[in-house]
Amino acid sequence: EADIAKTLPLRGKKVLITAGPTYEAIDPVRFIGNHSSGKMGFAIAETAARLGAEVVLVSGPVSLKLDHPQIKVVSVTSAQQMYDAVHASFEGVDIAILSAAVADYRPKDIASEKIKKKDTTLTLTLEKTKDILASLGEIKGKQFLVGFALETENELEHAKTKLKKKNLDLIVLNSLKDKGAGFKTDTNKVTLISKDNKVVPFPVKTKAEVANDIFTHIINKLHA
Ligand code: CTP
Ligand code: CA
Repeated sequence: EADIAKTLPLRGKKVLITAGPTYEAIDPVRFIGNHSSGKMGFAIAETAARLGAEVVLVSGPVSLKLDHPQIKVVSVTSAQQMYDAVHASFEGVDIAILSAAVADYRPKDIASEKIKKKDTTLTLTLEKTKDILASLGEIKGKQFLVGFALETENELEHAKTKLKKKNLDLIVLNSLKDKGAGFKTDTNKVTLISKDNKVVPFPVKTKAEVANDIFTHIINKLHA
């Protein structure tokens, strides 16, 4: 008897994913954000579900929609909200993949009224947000923890440092230099670097194919 479900390599696994940008409020009508589209994280979520996993996708503000019985989408706005949503799910998951472009800094104070135009310059004081990925690295148990690294110089060295510092099992280095890679595109060029410092570069691929490559690596490691 052919049971197709038995061929699903992530059946019974729970996967937590972050995607998209975060918006950090300046005043009631303005924010600091970035150009992340969320496409990579959404592709990872869809691939995980297709491979049989139960998925929690914590997403910052994006225009993408996902309606899948195995994917629970949790919509957040700020880095702090993303931190809270991620920590609410982390304990019960087997794999966590953090692809969101989280703001590193946020306005220290949020003006309660719209800031009025006044002087020729305006100075905002920013404070660091919590590093969600690093916080998971600190409490990690059995979870397979994956981060992304966006670098423009000394790519490999910086990515390896992040892998180590944040206690990751795998880091996905995103090459912005290459054509067809990056924030708004449907393609990406990545290099996978694992805990044992093995470096595997991939050619430019669709984000769905990149998601597949990431899970192929993870599934191999889980079976090893
Ligand atoms: N990340 C996170 N929370 C933050 C900042 C980053 O979870 N507050 C995660 C990202 O989702 C990504 C990884 O950390 O998986 C690396 O993000 P990146 O911006 O490349 O590195 P940073 O550690 O923020 O360092 P820098 O921006 O200075 O390179
Ligand atoms: Ca950053």
